Parts: sequence; structure tokens; C-alpha cells
Amino acid sequence: MGSNPYSRYPVSGMGKVDEIREMVDNDLGFQQAPLMCYSRTKTLLFISNDKKVVGCLIAEHIQWGYRVIEEKLPAIRSEEEKVRFERQKAWCCSTLPEPAICGISRIWVFSMMRRKKIASRMIECLRSNFIYGSYLSKEEIAFSDPTPDGKLFATQYCGTGQFLVYNFINGQNST
Ligand SMILES: CC(C)(COP(=O)(O)OP(=O)(O)OC[C@H]1O[C@@H](n2cnc3c(N)ncnc32)[C@H](O)[C@@H]1OP(=O)(O)O)[C@@H](O)C(=O)NCCC(=O)NCCS
Repeated sequence: MGSNPYSRYPVSGMGKVDEIREMVDNDLGFQQAPLMCYSRTKTLLFISNDKKVVGCLIAEHIQWGYRVIEEKLPAIRSEEEKVRFERQKAWCCSTLPEPAICGISRIWVFSMMRRKKIASRMIECLRSNFIYGSYLSKEEIAFSDPTPDGKLFATQYCGTGQFLVYNFINGQNST
């Protein structure tokens, strides 16, 4: 995505958040479907100093996550090659459910603002605000059907390629 169509709008009310979610879904290639239950989701927006929406994170309550199974990397020399390999390969996960609390349904950062720790900061904020009075551990968070970018990010953020995923078959386990 080259431009940020939401840069012009002040954010107010659910309608605008819906529009932002639609734009994020288009960018992620998701089919348009309204969020089922607003009371169970939390949306965080990252607003830049010049008042533009440059990040969006939508989280929901979940009960289970499934651990990504890390594939053995072929003998790779550079970090660049590793990223290229990670981008190309599909991910697999265990069928064994593990308890989880918070599902990251969508996480998105405006293309020109990536690699500035915006996604990391949104997750930090989520972890302290998702449940009142408690700070979620990384183990209690799962990522919905991660994209290649999402996988690279989650691997780095969680400190392991074996992070939790959910929601990979028609929205199952999202409540
Ligand atoms: C995935 C995404 C949200 C990451 O946002 P971000 O603000 O760039 O992430 P951060 O800056 O917090 O990244 C933290 C670390 O994760 C790793 N990382 C993040 N994105 C990466 C990428 N595309 N390639 C390789 N490593 C990446 C890096 O180690 C990075 O630290 P570094 O920049 O110091 O090397 C962003 O790339 C995005 O919006 N992508 C398009 C939407 C998408 O695919 N969302 C994921 C859905 S699961």
C-alpha cells in the first residue's frame, strides 16, 4: 500500500474504526466481514504526531491457541536469506490446543512506518490493557492466521518461532 487514505480523518466513534478495519482487511486480503461481537474485541489505533492513523491492532478473547511448528532451516548464511526463506514457506501448527487469553485478530502498520517498533508498542499497550489490572504474558497471546510479515514479527516479538496461532479454519476458536 503506497498511501494512507485515513490520514485525513480525525478518529471519532465506531463508524470510523469500522472504516479503518475495512482498509486494514483490504490490505491484509481478508474478506469483508463485520466483527461479530464488539464487546469482546478491543481496537487500538496508533496515531502519529501529525495525527494520522498509522497502526491498528484488533484483539479478541480466545480460549485456545496452537503452537507453530518450526521447520528446520536449510543451511542459510545471511539474515537476508533467512527472511526470504521465512517469507516463502507456509507455516504449520500443532493440533494440540493450549490455553490462551488474547487473540490478535489483526495487526497492521502503515507501510511507510514499518520497522519503527509501532507494532511492538501496540502489543505492549494491549498486554497492559486487555484485562484490567493484569499484564498478559507473551504466552497468553496468539496470532490469527499470520501473514509472512506477521510471522517474522511474531517470531521476533515472542522470542521464538513457536508462538501461538488461532483462527486458521473459518474463524474457529475466536470466542
Ligand atoms: C507485521 C507488521 C504489523 C509489523 O509492524 P512493525 O511496526 O513494522 O513491527 P516492529 O517494528 O515492531 O517490528 C519488531 C521486530 O520484528 C521483526 N520484523 C517486523 N517486521 C518484519 C519484516 N517484515 N521482516 C523481517 N522482520 C520483521 C524485526 O526483527 C523487527 O525489529 P527490527 O526492525 O529492529 O529488526 C507490519 O509489517 C504490517 O503491518 N504488515 C502488513 C500487515 C500484516 O501482514 N500484518 C500481520 C498480520 S498477522
